[in-house]
Amino acid sequence: MAPSKHGVHAAAWSVLLRMAVAVNNGLAQTPQLGWNNWNSLGCDVSEDLLLDTSQKLLDLGLRDVGYNYVVLDDCWSDGRDEDGYLVADSTRFPRGMKFLADAIHEKGMLYGMYSSAGEYTCARYAGSLDHEEHDAKSFASWDVDYVKYDNCYSMGRHGTPKISYDRYDVMAKALNATGRPMLYSLCNWGEDLTHTWGMSIANSWRMSGDIYDSFSRPDILCSCDDPRDPHCIAPGSHCSVLNILNKVAPYTDRGQPGGWNDLDMLEVGQGGMTDEEYKAHFSMWALVKSPLLIGADIRHLPASALTILNNPAIIAINQDPAGRSAHRIRINLDVKKDKYGVGEAHVWSGPLANGDQVVAFLNAADEDLKMEAGLDEIFVDDGPEGSAPQVKLSWEVYDLWGGRMSEKTAQKLVDASEAGVGIAEAQKAADWYNTTELSYADGLQAQDSRLFGTKIGEVKAQGTLKATVKRHSVEVFRLRSKGGETKRYSVHREL
Ligand SMILES: *[C@@H]1O[C@H](CO)[C@@H](O)[C@H](O)[C@H]1NC(C)=O
Ligand SMILES: *[C@@H]1O[C@H](CO)[C@@H](O)[C@H](O)[C@H]1NC(C)=O
Repeated sequence: MAPSKHGVHAAAWSVLLRMAVAVNNGLAQTPQLGWNNWNSLGCDVSEDLLLDTSQKLLDLGLRDVGYNYVVLDDCWSDGRDEDGYLVADSTRFPRGMKFLADAIHEKGMLYGMYSSAGEYTCARYAGSLDHEEHDAKSFASWDVDYVKYDNCYSMGRHGTPKISYDRYDVMAKALNATGRPMLYSLCNWGEDLTHTWGMSIANSWRMSGDIYDSFSRPDILCSCDDPRDPHCIAPGSHCSVLNILNKVAPYTDRGQPGGWNDLDMLEVGQGGMTDEEYKAHFSMWALVKSPLLIGADIRHLPASALTILNNPAIIAINQDPAGRSAHRIRINLDVKKDKYGVGEAHVWSGPLANGDQVVAFLNAADEDLKMEAGLDEIFVDDGPEGSAPQVKLSWEVYDLWGGRMSEKTAQKLVDASEAGVGIAEAQKAADWYNTTELSYADGLQAQDSRLFGTKIGEVKAQGTLKATVKRHSVEVFRLRSKGGETKRYSVHREL
């Protein structure tokens, strides 16, 4: 059922369309962008943390590049009241959840909260299993916009897709019944084949165990010996960037407007990976159309990390109106392995709404590599063996990391936000892409140069795209047709 531009089967699309309609809360037409405290702060949550963080999102220009959900994770509650409603911890959240939602809304952002489809949450606070209606009502009454719904302590109610589906569907229905559109984010670790049913009830679904701050190190807690085995979807934690990418590769096409494969929150800025590895991590999450939730403590964000997270040319791929994931068209295992025995190189390719094509060369080998892909391979979805019409066109090549913000400019933003003075000036000097003024869809249509990186060359008809890619890094290109007609996707995917 791999979708293709020209050879797309009407039946396949109508299945996808029906699945998209099932959630029908109008949200996540492109993957959600935001911040969540878990990766960096765990249970160390408070009203101050969320208020300070939302101010930082504004000051650093992150809200305006698109990160508009502020999501509070586990550990916020203090049991239930006598009527069965969850109570917020009054020490950590003295003014309660409605106050926080109002404060975040006032800053032009949206508020997310957390619970678990279990007896307890993962940190053993009260869970929502068999309390769904009460808890959905609480979230709605606090003006919450987003619910992340975890999978711990499920009381044995898992083991088949149907059992898990039913358990998560109760909350889907309870949220819907409140009448308040709340983005529903499943965090069930890919258990019970979530990618086969998540889109029916949710706006995103985790497809693996938890990420950790490593590019490729295997860990027994991420309980698959071979992450390339598509059936190996046992949950766990300590899953590396490469492990998660290999797991999602066989079903990237399940993401669609309204519902997305969630590769888990970003580790960019946390310190466990190199700059090149973070670039690769961020780029690939964007290409696969994963939600992008910053996981670092942005009160102490290194300037280098800011220049990764705020690259509008990469975010524009993630937010492309067509909502089609790139897919892996080649994997090479015959490359130098590292001390863990890990080494591989991937080519990923995907269609974009305006007829452009995004291509990523991912180097997870233990050395720099010369990589290449012919147009016949890049456009294989549109016709195998070089039969795609695009192979006969010439393409301009744009390097999507070519326009990366300088660290000096980013440091000025960080310094200004720390000092609390000169913020407007620093933002003006940065001249960064501002989605509050121009959405990604409109900016792409207007050909805003900040969304296209820098032009580095071209590939002639029947030609080959080539690049040298550093160890544990990525090169990401946007191919733009030179004059020839390319098919454009309708945002609504009319058949
Ligand atoms: C609830 O579901 C119905 C039917 O799918 C949909 O039309 C409506 O928009 C949903 N409402 C909310 C608040 O999600
Ligand atoms: C983005 O645009 C909005 C609306 O004009 C403005 O309030 C905000 O300060 C801008 N942000 C940045 C980072 O320039």
